Amino acid sequence: MMRRKLVAGNWKMNGDRASLAELDAIAAAAQAAPQVDVGVAVPFTLIAAAADRVPTLSIGAEDVHEADHGAHTGCVSAPMVREAGARFAIVGHSERRADQHETSHDAWAKAAAAHRAGLSVILCCGETEAERNADRAERIVQAQIEKSVPDDADGSWLTLAYEPRWAIGTGRTPTPEDIAAIHAIARAKLRMLIGDRADGVRILYGGSVTGANAASILALENVDGALVGGASLTAAKFVPIIEGAAGL
Ligand code: 13P
Repeated sequence: MMRRKLVAGNWKMNGDRASLAELDAIAAAAQAAPQVDVGVAVPFTLIAAAADRVPTLSIGAEDVHEADHGAHTGCVSAPMVREAGARFAIVGHSERRADQHETSHDAWAKAAAAHRAGLSVILCCGETEAERNADRAERIVQAQIEKSVPDDADGSWLTLAYEPRWAIGTGRTPTPEDIAAIHAIARAKLRMLIGDRADGVRILYGGSVTGANAASILALENVDGALVGGASLTAAKFVPIIEGAAGL
């Protein structure tokens, strides 16, 4: 099964109105690489301005609440980000698991909420360094997938992202063999959960992806794209990753 590559940026808690200028060149690079899907998740405050500025580029939210509306002070729902112009949402990111104590069950509820609102979903999983050192990475990722993938998931709206926590923002990446091994295990787990629909679900790698390593990581079996943090903040760093994906 051929799956289109997806290169998604995640600005995290970075960026302001001036930073939106970076999106102009990113959108141009995306248009020059029609064989690759490109998206950028930005802080809630920038979604509407980003979507208005670069209508051809898929803009995403970095999180959504699991409810559509209600008494949840300070939270933002999937219908809200959809109305602001988001086309996708990241859920279950390891920084939310660590900082906001979110669980895989929370990620499941958020994925369902985003899908209900008509958003595509990038659902994150990945082990900590202690879990990797204890040889538990595979079991952790399997358990996260089992608890967070909705029953009705398919590749038309769900993308999985494997992001080992110790590789995020550190300049360290797993070996190609380790990335391929986890992605194969993730695919097998998806198949157990949703059958043949698993073949259509893209599995991204995230964690210290750069223009220098993107092409070799994205060439690995079952690696269908990249989720990029630091290197998505500027066009100068993000465009080479798009180009690396397009060259495959
Ligand atoms: P870095 O690319 O900065 O390592 O971040 C990866 C990430 O967490 C993307 O969601």
